[in-house]
Amino acid sequence: MSAVASQTNFNHTHFNKAHSNIVVKPSTPVIGAEIEGIDLRKPLTPQEVDDIHQALLQWKVLFFRDQPISDEEQLRFGRYFGKLTPAHPIMLGLPHQPAIWERAASEYKPKYRPDLNIPTSRPNRDYKGWHIDITFVANPNKYSILRGIEIPAYGGDTLWSNLEAAYEGLSPQIRSLIDGLQVVHRTNSYDSGWKNQNRREIGPLTALHPVVRVHPETGKKHLFINPGTSSHIVGLKERESQALIDLLADEISRPEYQVRFHWTPHALVIWDNRATAHAGPIDYAHFNAPRIVRRITVAGDLPKGPDGFVSRPLEGELFGTID
Ligand SMILES: [Fe+2]
Repeated sequence: MSAVASQTNFNHTHFNKAHSNIVVKPSTPVIGAEIEGIDLRKPLTPQEVDDIHQALLQWKVLFFRDQPISDEEQLRFGRYFGKLTPAHPIMLGLPHQPAIWERAASEYKPKYRPDLNIPTSRPNRDYKGWHIDITFVANPNKYSILRGIEIPAYGGDTLWSNLEAAYEGLSPQIRSLIDGLQVVHRTNSYDSGWKNQNRREIGPLTALHPVVRVHPETGKKHLFINPGTSSHIVGLKERESQALIDLLADEISRPEYQVRFHWTPHALVIWDNRATAHAGPIDYAHFNAPRIVRRITVAGDLPKGPDGFVSRPLEGELFGTID
């Protein structure tokens, strides 16, 4: 267990600069920190990697501004933290770079801004809302690393929520109720509706996960409900299951557990997908500007519950690695 585990989530002290020149500036008392004093165009030292890792365990999402890096440098940054995965279990990555998933405004705009008549081969897509990345596989990625390629002057912000704080915010009675439950996560209708895109032709992906997950490094418990893809809780009546999922999803989206990031050109964000949910871009319906981001993900392990339950696939395969 790391030294971070002995600190509370709400420790508001600045990072101890024991090793490198990295400076960690918390964004809120609960989640998020801006990282300064590092140049991601250069290889990192082991001390820098360790400092980033420790900051990530504590603050859960880290924001790096003004990092004009290449695709290769983004991949190199990801590899410091583990093996990379393909771009997505369903969607294909860039033709020349299968680990990179590019998301562009054109996916959103035809629906919301039909007046713009933007040529696109991609279908309309709704705002995705709060989610944890790719929990429809039994081994979702541990980190997601998103880099701004084209960023609007305003709008297109992303939110992250601290799922440990959300769990701790529940009453002890609710926590003990959910500690031993399992929930089915599956690809949802709009995932399967991504037709005519660069996607793998595979069937539905479904995984069984604990409702509460124990972080493999800090040992802390967090809510592991994905509002977009958690279909039902095992053993409950349908109305009980839906009411409980709604209650927990509502807890995840409470503002007191959140940080909001306004993207700037060449910003890069890394988040711990084992302790956060996120939502974004949150406002595409309301502005007219390009927004292109590129994401890579670092492979994760099988989630474990407080009772030792280990996630497993129900339909489809485990998510592999690319190198
Ligand atoms: Fe996401």
